[in-house]
Amino acid sequence: MNHVVHVNAKAPEQEVMERAAAILRGGGLVAFPTETVYGLGALALNLKAIHRIFTAKERPDWDPLIVHVRDAAMARSLMKTVPQSFESLASRFWPGPLTFVVEKADLVPGEVTAHRPTVALRMPGHPVAAALLTATGAGIAAPSANRFGRPSPTRAQHVLEDLADRVDLILDAGPTPMGVESTVLDLTQSPPAILRPGGVPREELEKVLGEVTLASIVEDEVARKGLAGPGMSIRHYSPRARIELLDGTAEEAVVMMKRRVEELKREGKTFYIMSNYGDSQLYAQTLFDQMREADRQQADVILAILPPASGLGLAVRDRLQRAAGSAPVKKSRSRK
Ligand code: TXA
Ligand code: MG
Repeated sequence: MNHVVHVNAKAPEQEVMERAAAILRGGGLVAFPTETVYGLGALALNLKAIHRIFTAKERPDWDPLIVHVRDAAMARSLMKTVPQSFESLASRFWPGPLTFVVEKADLVPGEVTAHRPTVALRMPGHPVAAALLTATGAGIAAPSANRFGRPSPTRAQHVLEDLADRVDLILDAGPTPMGVESTVLDLTQSPPAILRPGGVPREELEKVLGEVTLASIVEDEVARKGLAGPGMSIRHYSPRARIELLDGTAEEAVVMMKRRVEELKREGKTFYIMSNYGDSQLYAQTLFDQMREADRQQADVILAILPPASGLGLAVRDRLQRAAGSAPVKKSRSRK
């Protein structure tokens, strides 16, 4: 398809960036890689373009977007007041997979923030995302480029599967390096709260901030009323297959896995076993692609071992729990 354009992930071609920027300036939609997942970009201050994002993704209007910025100065220009901790956090983690929720400046349209008084801001580190921001010279609102509720896209092919020609241009720079989305950190709360665990681990934030709280997963109804980060809603990132989560020590989980495999075979069910659970970084990288692969294989059930809740494991656990559609996780039963 001619609206998918290959671009060098390390040294993006200038003419391709100019073409993408022109589409954005004209109110169009451009899907582009970030270090986390592919984003569906539109000019943040263009209301028509913002509206097109919600339509293309079939995203409910109560779920606010992240505005991607070229640098910290652009971020400050979109804030009402700059939180004290912003400077130290931005200099440590930007560009990178960290999104700040702060009080929004008046010029940020309510359509972007789902009419919340806050805006989410992130400076991405991927060379293609950075080059696109430079070429465009303006903030780019970009949710993950999947259909609402589907696993996030870590490859251009995933964007094509979900959005096809609802997007004007897809910049294909290969698989995204991290695989899970940015950490969303709410700086309007004290202590700051992680609304969504992601690419920057909680432990790293604690080194800078001291205490950081972790918001819990909520029902959509709570999110819709604006009472919590909507990304915290359950039943998200879902493949068509039913996901079964196996928790406990690695040893316990493997024993449970073997038992479930035998049971599913007896029941005549097909299953897909998530690999890479022993390495949280690799697990994060391949998580969403594996969910889509399970669907391609038409598996009835996905068996997934939960990694430990440290480092990137926290984000992986969060995505798996929400893909399973239930906060409570099957606890490993002790072996007799
Ligand atoms: O890594 C990422 O963050 C990717 C790439 C493309 O940058 N983007 C991404 O966007 O994951 P999205 O829209 O799929 O997720 C944004 C999350 C949602 O959970 C949304 O509810 C939350 O950020 N969010 C956005 N604005 C917010 C606000 N003002 N207050 C609370 N949560 C907000
Ligand atoms: Mg998303």
